[in-house]
Amino acid sequence: MTDKLPPGPRMPVLLQTLGFWSRPTAFLERCRARYGVPFTIRLVGQPPLVMISDPDAIKDLFQAPPDVLHPGEGARILEPVVGTHSVILLDEGPHLQQRKLMLPAFHGEKMQRLSSLMSELTEREIDSWPLDVPVELHPRLQRLTLEIILRAVFGLERGAKLDSLRALLTKLLTFGDSPLSLLPPPPRALSRVTPLAGFERLGARIDELIYALIEERRREGADREDVLAMLLAAEHEDGTPMSAQELRDELMTALVAGHETTASQLAWTFERLAREPAVLARLSCEIEDGSGEEYLTATINEILRHRPVLPNAEPRLVKKPVTIGNVRYPAGVVLLANAYLVHHDPAIYPDPYAFHPERFLEQAPGTYTWIPFGGGRRRCLGASFALVEMKIAIRAVLARFELAAVGAHPEKTRRRSITISPAHGGTVLLRERASASRSRNSPAPERLPAAA
Ligand code: HEM
Repeated sequence: MTDKLPPGPRMPVLLQTLGFWSRPTAFLERCRARYGVPFTIRLVGQPPLVMISDPDAIKDLFQAPPDVLHPGEGARILEPVVGTHSVILLDEGPHLQQRKLMLPAFHGEKMQRLSSLMSELTEREIDSWPLDVPVELHPRLQRLTLEIILRAVFGLERGAKLDSLRALLTKLLTFGDSPLSLLPPPPRALSRVTPLAGFERLGARIDELIYALIEERRREGADREDVLAMLLAAEHEDGTPMSAQELRDELMTALVAGHETTASQLAWTFERLAREPAVLARLSCEIEDGSGEEYLTATINEILRHRPVLPNAEPRLVKKPVTIGNVRYPAGVVLLANAYLVHHDPAIYPDPYAFHPERFLEQAPGTYTWIPFGGGRRRCLGASFALVEMKIAIRAVLARFELAAVGAHPEKTRRRSITISPAHGGTVLLRERASASRSRNSPAPERLPAAA
């Protein structure tokens, strides 16, 4: 056992920062090839970051006691948007309590009840997709995942309130795409004169609308299926409901954690499927004959392995010395379970760079070898939500369209704030499927009632 940090690049910190931000996966691969696992990188203004990708070490990391590692402190950069009560930013007791309050709202069974609303919104979105020309799917998928969160999580109905909040949040999320959003918040006095002043004003206007929504929903007390309804009904251990600020912070957390992630993951899905005719044919066949969803599930597991949009779980700040995978780490170091690297380890996944859903027909995803949603007591709260959403979107798109690739080469990666998405937005060519045009000409089925 050793308490020296694992080796890593010795190039200047600025160059490491540039490499990590501009070519994230290539940089990680190079470090692994050169230094083995784990390795340590150093980025401007941050403590040493240790990349962990051995499954036994990942298990130690996910199972470490809550007072030893603090993921919440590691995610402070999100605070200006998600607020201080956000489950993502809490640690130890407060985190466990907040997570317990939120878990029922994101339970798999609840998500199934939201599926008719998700289907309706998906069908409406894809109605507008152009045929027979190259089309960048990412912005369209962003619009879809935003709409799903506003309707299924915030519980907004169609109308002026939904339109105003959608417009303001779209602006806010566009800001999140800019490199400025990666900087720590400036001191209060300065924030009035930097470009961030506009961001603050926008945030204040959004908060006003969200607090009004919470107030209205509390008064109304209606029986609804959306996530906000569940959060309004949740009680702390002493029997008190969540405060308006807690509710606001968790709504914004769901938005930040669940919007861009799912949109990018779906963009990768269609980009990959367009270039993998055998997979696409088998999947389209399963969808067309309604013979179950075994291959669809395997395809989603594979895309989450092959192109994890969050290349690592939340950074965990070491608060007390801890041994992870036989290495002793001192307080102050940050440990990252690296999904990209473990998912591309040939000892675990033969031919790891191939897109091959069949591998998940033979074996279920492993707890410490398949970690697109992180793990342990911090595992993504919205995993079921995202999986239901992805299944609905893939089914709807493939039932309606044939996909073809655009350009000879697969899309490279591009960092969008915290996610890694296709460099050209998942550009594909859509053609109407013969069976889809037949069913469009038959009488429309009765619309299912919206969940919200
Ligand atoms: C494909 C889509 C998604 C991916 C890949 C993803 C991935 C992740 C990952 C890697 C984490 C960190 C886990 C850890 O550190 O162990 C996380 C946390 C979280 N995610 Fe997701 N996520 C997705 C969608 C969503 C959605 C749709 C929602 C909500 C509607 C959501 C809500 C959350 C929350 C609240 C946390 C914080 C959990 C905690 O700290 O206890 N995510 N997600």
